[in-house]
Amino acid sequence: MGSASMRFGFGKVAQDGAARAGVIRTPRGEIRTPAFMPVGTAATVKAMLPESVAATGADILLGNTYHLMLRPGAERVARLGGLHRFMNWQRPILTDSGGFQVMSLAGLRKLTEEGVTFRSHIDGSKHHLTPERSMEIQALLGSDIVMCFDECPALPASDKAVAESMRLSMRWAARSKEAFGDRPGHALFGIMQGGVTRALREESAEALKEIGFDGYAVGGLAVGEGQEAMFGVLDYAPGSLPEDRPRYLMGVGKPDDIVGAVKRGIDMMDCVLPSRSGRTGQVFTRHGVVNIKNARHQDDPRPLDEDCTCPACCGYSRAYLHHVFRAGEMISGMLLTWHNLHYFQQIMAEMRAAIVEGRFTEWEAGFHAGRAQGDI
Ligand code: GUN
Ligand code: ZN
Repeated sequence: MGSASMRFGFGKVAQDGAARAGVIRTPRGEIRTPAFMPVGTAATVKAMLPESVAATGADILLGNTYHLMLRPGAERVARLGGLHRFMNWQRPILTDSGGFQVMSLAGLRKLTEEGVTFRSHIDGSKHHLTPERSMEIQALLGSDIVMCFDECPALPASDKAVAESMRLSMRWAARSKEAFGDRPGHALFGIMQGGVTRALREESAEALKEIGFDGYAVGGLAVGEGQEAMFGVLDYAPGSLPEDRPRYLMGVGKPDDIVGAVKRGIDMMDCVLPSRSGRTGQVFTRHGVVNIKNARHQDDPRPLDEDCTCPACCGYSRAYLHHVFRAGEMISGMLLTWHNLHYFQQIMAEMRAAIVEGRFTEWEAGFHAGRAQGDI
């Protein structure tokens, strides 16, 4: 295991403006950046077989400490050979650390310096998460990229509350690093917080760089501040992080959020949007959004997108997709999720090529020009 090829690493291949193209190397394979990570919260990307997820172009999935610790339990996954084997996905997995999900999903919860105590959203049982336990769970799962245990305040919040929360997250980042230890081939990412306040973001970046991580995430965005405020932070936040490490924007986003983030120097993103929307009938295409439940599609023989090469577009009409959605057939979620994931990965592939060829600005103009504002 000691060979150089078994270590984690990041190499920038090209830069165009602030946009970067690169490769993250892990013992489970390479991740082409900018990368979009589909969300596999409960050890499955809902409605998709792992080989289908790979076929859309995904190099890496996101898993969740919070969900997996509650069900089926991290120790059980470890006994069964780890998360990759358990869910039959052999490529890299990044796991989120749980703090963010506790705050957004759990019932009654109590936050202290030590960590957070909460009640499960599944059965109301009582649980405790600390930086140390989060690192232990992510090691039991066998995660390739481990996230620090952090706290993310709901916005809007006062500067004082955001500052105190950010400083707690920075103390937890130091404890996460200590508990993570030395695990060759596995990476630990720090998470920047600080809301939409530049001085707090910069203080957070300095604190994380002082501790030292394999990669750096920008957390605490896409929590209700709006795209303009998010891009405002992304205009300076990536530049305050080390140039030679991957930068990950957590929980983002819609196609135009993703493009704007890459333009500002982000290398990795994750979001439930393509998979969740696939199950609610919302479809993203290069021409705009299609709401397949709309009656206007019931006699339409055209595919979702004439230019898309995914199975939903190659084999089925909008009329069929409308029908199976309305009938509650399982194939509806399968096909629409496949299309959405394929489309998100298509955007990533096009951006990577455009950055390498030095034509990102041109590509971005074409991306915006081809899109309708309302439903299509
Ligand atoms: N997912 C989206 N935002 C965040 C964040 O700020 N922290 C963590 N841990 N996960 C997130
Ligand atoms: Zn398609």
